[in-house]
Amino acid sequence: MRWVELPDWAPPGPGRQASLFVEQKLVLVFHVDGRLHAIEDGCPHGGASFFGVPCEGGHLRCPAHGMRFDLQTGSAQGSPEFRLRTLGLAQQQGVWHLGWPGPKSDATGSA
Ligand code: FES
Repeated sequence: MRWVELPDWAPPGPGRQASLFVEQKLVLVFHVDGRLHAIEDGCPHGGASFFGVPCEGGHLRCPAHGMRFDLQTGSAQGSPEFRLRTLGLAQQQGVWHLGWPGPKSDATGSA
């Protein structure tokens, strides 16, 4: 995982969501049941945006064709070949970092 520092960023409160641009990509962060989930925006089926889509029971329903995705695993219900691009989130020394799948960097030591 490659980690990118998010200076001055604070996560959304419980039950809320936030968006941010990182490396020219829209990232959505959901605070669900005490856990933070980050995804790169874009449905793996056809690319529709999840911006503003409410999280329901830890799931997101795509506004384009209705596929339902588990925020924890990224998998689509009934179609596991379609997966959201889930990202890592970690806080180190008071600064949040976003983890992109890929080669490891030295920004943080763990996923
Ligand atoms: S674009 Fe999301 S289900 Fe088709």
